[in-house]
Amino acid sequence: MAHPARRYNYWLGGKDHFAADRESGDLHAKAFPTVRIAARENRDFLRRSVRFLAESGIRQFLDIGTGLPVPDNTHEIAQRIDPTSRVLYVDNDPIVMTHSRALTIGSPTGRTGYVEADLRSPEVILEAPELRAVLNLQEPVGLLLVAVLHFLHDDTQAQGIVRTLLAALPPGSYLVASNLTLDYASPEQVAKHKELLASGRTDARARNSAEFGSFFTDLELVSPGIVAVSDWRPESDERPTAADVSIYGAVGRTT
Ligand SMILES: C[S@@+](CC[C@H](N)C(=O)[O-])C[C@H]1O[C@@H](n2cnc3c(N)ncnc32)[C@H](O)[C@@H]1O
Repeated sequence: MAHPARRYNYWLGGKDHFAADRESGDLHAKAFPTVRIAARENRDFLRRSVRFLAESGIRQFLDIGTGLPVPDNTHEIAQRIDPTSRVLYVDNDPIVMTHSRALTIGSPTGRTGYVEADLRSPEVILEAPELRAVLNLQEPVGLLLVAVLHFLHDDTQAQGIVRTLLAALPPGSYLVASNLTLDYASPEQVAKHKELLASGRTDARARNSAEFGSFFTDLELVSPGIVAVSDWRPESDERPTAADVSIYGAVGRTT
């Protein structure tokens, strides 16, 4: 059975995947030929947004839906700016757990931790002893839900989970999120995605800009707002189109 973490690792050109993940990855690539570009752009959005948060003074990160380690993990990005930065990683895939050693080696002055838990049980995450050991919830936290909300298909459930997590964080915290969208897709791609979803061959639910925007209700949206991840504070004028990427990204601040 394909796993999102390993399939994503396959698209990113990593080495941690099995035949089922490659088959599923290739099936998606047939319907969406730019899926590898999208995966790289999503990862680059994570890098730019974590750097933005660190430059805005955030020193603690709760990264849920961590994925398998890649060269630039959240703690490496944040600790480059301040070595005392602390990161708690959370993922529900046991295979990410087996790689967690690579995620829990941070700077000597900072701190990283790892919890195997499901985003669908936010209370379990918030009450995890590891969370309290790594994060101080009296100080602002950057909550990262990057390329993970689309595995929660029900909007009401997903919005409730985001609200629960944000309610546990003090004002001045941030939400960073990204989600697959079909707003730029052709009618053929929309039909193909519907078919994959109905047959259980994809597990990602696309959201339009209003549906994605609902996660940021009550937050101050950081400029440029809700855009394709490649258009969020880009570092280069040469970048893929929103249609090639088809993932929305945004950053919001709690008040
Ligand atoms: C596409 S990867 C994204 C990795 C990383 N956030 C990024 O954007 O580069 C999605 C990750 O979310 C994890 N995931 C999926 N559903 C989850 C859930 N309900 N709870 C926790 N993690 C989940 C998968 O195991 C996978 O590691």
